[in-house]
Amino acid sequence: MKATKITDGVHWIGANISTNDLFEGIWPIPHGVTINSYVVKGEKIAIIDLVRDWAGASNYLIEELKSLGISLKDVDYFILNHLEPDHTGDLRALYELAGGAEIITSKKGVPLVDAFYGLKDKVRGVSSGDTLDLGGGKVLTFYDAPNVHWPETMVTFDSSTGTLFSCDAFGSFGALKGCLFDDQTSEEDHKFYERESLRYYSNIVGPFSNFVLKAIDAVSSLDIKIIAPSHGLVWRGNPKRIIDRYIAYANYMKDYAEPKITLIWGSMYGNTELMLRSVIQGVASEGVSTEVFRVPQDNISFILASAWESAGIIFGMPTYEYKMYPPMRDVLNHLAQKHTWKKKVFRFGSFGWSGGAQKDFDSMIEKMKWDVLDPLEFQGAPSYEDLDKGFEMGKKLAQEIKVIPRKLK
Ligand code: FEO
Repeated sequence: MKATKITDGVHWIGANISTNDLFEGIWPIPHGVTINSYVVKGEKIAIIDLVRDWAGASNYLIEELKSLGISLKDVDYFILNHLEPDHTGDLRALYELAGGAEIITSKKGVPLVDAFYGLKDKVRGVSSGDTLDLGGGKVLTFYDAPNVHWPETMVTFDSSTGTLFSCDAFGSFGALKGCLFDDQTSEEDHKFYERESLRYYSNIVGPFSNFVLKAIDAVSSLDIKIIAPSHGLVWRGNPKRIIDRYIAYANYMKDYAEPKITLIWGSMYGNTELMLRSVIQGVASEGVSTEVFRVPQDNISFILASAWESAGIIFGMPTYEYKMYPPMRDVLNHLAQKHTWKKKVFRFGSFGWSGGAQKDFDSMIEKMKWDVLDPLEFQGAPSYEDLDKGFEMGKKLAQEIKVIPRKLK
């Protein structure tokens, strides 16, 4: 593997990962992921963000360095923008091989370097505005970006080339499809990365959306020409495209969303399922699209992505043992934990001897900031009259989500 030149004195030395592992042990990555690492060379040499022990990633990093005539022993600094182990997992081994490099991270990152890797010597904590002069005109400036994605996260800016090393911010799932740069990526592939960046955002960064907006604000005065995140494409043709996308994603937690509905359903014996078509027809009668997921069959990662951007969510599930259909409880837990807020919501479902799902549902969504329509429950199979009501409720929700404010904050 050879390093890829980004700009003067900056190369990509990352790894394109294909694995059956789950990201964070939770999220499927059927299309892979990149762990981007960068080497910046002045008179001294810094590596910005590292890799973890995935698919031989460290070997790639070392080989890519070698292709530049650099060995680990030549490295003066490891700059750790973020301590999550996808970017630091191999720190200890690389630090020992380098034999003398200094670790630079945010002040909050210093104790984590010790906690995760038992390293205390040659670890420097930096604050917003601090600089590192590599010589030869390369001066790196650090900016705290707390909670994008962990409290210790910072970003690094190379003012000589306008390159922002943004770590998780502006990242995406999805391995590279043969090119690293946005301006070499086809529109078809951009659509792929757009879905994967939304899924990444909703799965990983979503709850920290207010911090994302603050971080974007904090770097807005910088003359950014290139965005080099630690996952996904490097943006040098149109960095504004990924910045705007992240602003939109962050605002999905507020009064802003796409005019679409995510419908999540589960059914024990097909009676709740019988209502599905009527509700979707009602939504479609208003020209609104519905993305449908079945639980427990469909993975929560994809459900979160769709729900995150949707103005409306419909839940179809029966009562089970006087409570909610259990797989939907898992969905609601995830939606709550990821702050999937400010949605217009409708629920329908069947019950046998008595209800109970709605009471359970209501108690779970109390803190979700959702605007909830009256539910539609029916005993056993839905009657023709019930099906007509389902159509009308789908239509009503579609009408309401069409008037969600569309102005970004
Ligand atoms: Fe890519 Fe929060 O680590």
